[in-house]
Amino acid sequence: MNPWLLSIPLAYLLGSIPFGYLLVKIFRHEDIRATGSGNIGATNVARSGAKGLGIATLLLDVGKSFLAVKIALHLAPGNYDLAVITAVAAIVGHVFPIWLGFRGGKGVASALGVMLALSLAAAACTFGIFLVIFLLTRYVSLASMIGSATFPLFGLYFLPQRTPLVIAGLIFIPLLVIVKHHENIRRLLAGTESRFGKKKAVA
Ligand code: G3P
Repeated sequence: MNPWLLSIPLAYLLGSIPFGYLLVKIFRHEDIRATGSGNIGATNVARSGAKGLGIATLLLDVGKSFLAVKIALHLAPGNYDLAVITAVAAIVGHVFPIWLGFRGGKGVASALGVMLALSLAAAACTFGIFLVIFLLTRYVSLASMIGSATFPLFGLYFLPQRTPLVIAGLIFIPLLVIVKHHENIRRLLAGTESRFGKKKAVA
């Protein structure tokens, strides 16, 4: 079978699995979308008081998109056009999941997963930027936006191919992440964004 026809739909479906939503539903019988920021991601799951579930959400969201890109690279070794478009499909799946009426998360953990699969070095540099911003501000959202924005630079430096499709895909990923943080941006500008680890209601 054509690796494009297999990898891309599979990546979307894998990305669509809303682990944060499912874990909170199964173990706490709650809808995470009704808590805190309403996001289904690891930050909001941890914020809801379920730290263990937050960690599990992070690992599973990273893992699903990592797996999607690794499958593409396994089916078509060295084809970074396919790998990057598969990466985009996995993140789009997380952000617009078919199972939740196309209303999903902000794509941060799934972006980290595809980065790790595409280039460990680029992912490590991006995560380093995330960590510095996070430790300085305690804003996961700000660190996620700035960190993801640096990924195209590191990706272009470390990835073995720089085709137009690779470049477009690498730029699309942070754009999607940033657009999905529009409410966080509004709260950051208003000074009402919650800092990680501090108990404060999200507006
Ligand atoms: O995981 C997404 C993070 O950047 C922000 O999440 O819940 O604070 O909107 P949240």
